[in-house]
Amino acid sequence: MVKSVYICKFFQIQNETNYQLLTLNQYIIMTKSEEFMEMEAKYGAHNYHPLPVVLAKGEGAFVWDCEGKKYFDFLSAYSAVNQGHCHPKIVQAMCDQAHRLTLSSRAFYNDCLGEWEKYVTEYFGYEKVLPMNSGAEADETALKLARRWGVVKKGIKNDEVKIVCCEGNFHGRTITIITMSNDPESYANYGPMTPGFVRIPYNDPAALEKVLEAEGDKIAGFLVEPIQGEAGVYVPDDGYLKKCYDICHKHNVLFMADEVQCGIARTGKMLACDHENVRPDILILGKALGGGVMPVSAVLADDDIMLNIKPGEHGSTFGGNPIAAKVSIAALQVIKDENLMQNAERLGKIFREEMSNFQSPMIEKVRGKGLLNAIIIRPRNGKEAWDVCLKMRDLGVLAKPTHQHIIRFAPPLVITEAQLREAMELIKSALKSFE
Ligand SMILES: Cc1ncc(COP(=O)(O)O)c(C=O)c1O
Repeated sequence: MVKSVYICKFFQIQNETNYQLLTLNQYIIMTKSEEFMEMEAKYGAHNYHPLPVVLAKGEGAFVWDCEGKKYFDFLSAYSAVNQGHCHPKIVQAMCDQAHRLTLSSRAFYNDCLGEWEKYVTEYFGYEKVLPMNSGAEADETALKLARRWGVVKKGIKNDEVKIVCCEGNFHGRTITIITMSNDPESYANYGPMTPGFVRIPYNDPAALEKVLEAEGDKIAGFLVEPIQGEAGVYVPDDGYLKKCYDICHKHNVLFMADEVQCGIARTGKMLACDHENVRPDILILGKALGGGVMPVSAVLADDDIMLNIKPGEHGSTFGGNPIAAKVSIAALQVIKDENLMQNAERLGKIFREEMSNFQSPMIEKVRGKGLLNAIIIRPRNGKEAWDVCLKMRDLGVLAKPTHQHIIRFAPPLVITEAQLREAMELIKSALKSFE
């Protein structure tokens, strides 16, 4: 590897992730990438464990590191980059608006937000939309909306209102959201949690029915990921969403879909709920809503639910800012103009078929929908999913394990069949290297 002339005096990269203090008179030469990793380790909080690769450029389905090495991106920033890296139309929308007006706050109107609200509500078929920034904020907003609806419309006592969530969920990182999690990595040692949640097994409509029969009069909403992404791309049984929707409606409970990761063409339909023709009462979107260019998230619902929150009762300084509005319209337009749903559907089938037919002692299972897929890795000779990801990185494909033994494969939806096939050969070579 080409070394830059940067000289590091204090730190040595001992292996892929650990750093060791050197004595003052020891010197080593680092690459630019190593220099940036060292800076993050020294000055940044250690709340992530990235794959050791430092990205400096992106275009379409590809990214490049600081030394100019090119990779297929098979994570797409957790599906935020469905439209491909630095999509020219989305970047253009951002640049154009950045020269006019970047932020007004919601204390005043701006000449972009209304246009976005009209576009987004017509696009997804709802009466109202509420803009936020991150996925977690959108989930928080949905929880507040459901609780408010439960109190105001359903007549649940304010301190008794509950939300049902699922085991294995991932809805973000706020205190309230981690209350719903059953993953200790998310919730442990963060002090008292938020009351008012009931957790049931995922992919189990009978469990939902049971809890709604027992205490449905106190339950405002059921929050579910149509496919659990972070948990390892768990695809529920066909019919699960529709069954849950019907059970919710039987008990006057809102069906709330977190489509932050699986929505916006990722699974081969605009929404993962579309596979079962289910229209959530509350729809939660994020990630690809900003085309990988801006953090844009949103909650959609009809007036009966949305208008229970009145002026001053919820908001965000940056939510609905003019750049986000313009970027988001461009991002959603690209999805339709470039047939990304159809591409995800077609290429996803090729990926699952090809990888399922590939004989490797390390592949336990291949699963997914559209271009949201996962390979469950069977550890071999002490080598795990992390080692496979390091090998794939060396060969030019970036992906990251979710939990110990699952690798998610989710390339930008602009990837072509030829590119996908080239990437699959590299993935196979990585797996073969452990035989
Ligand atoms: C389903 C789901 N909901 C919510 C979130 C949180 O989004 P953010 O990281 O933008 O807060 C994520 C993030 O991965 C997610 O996958």
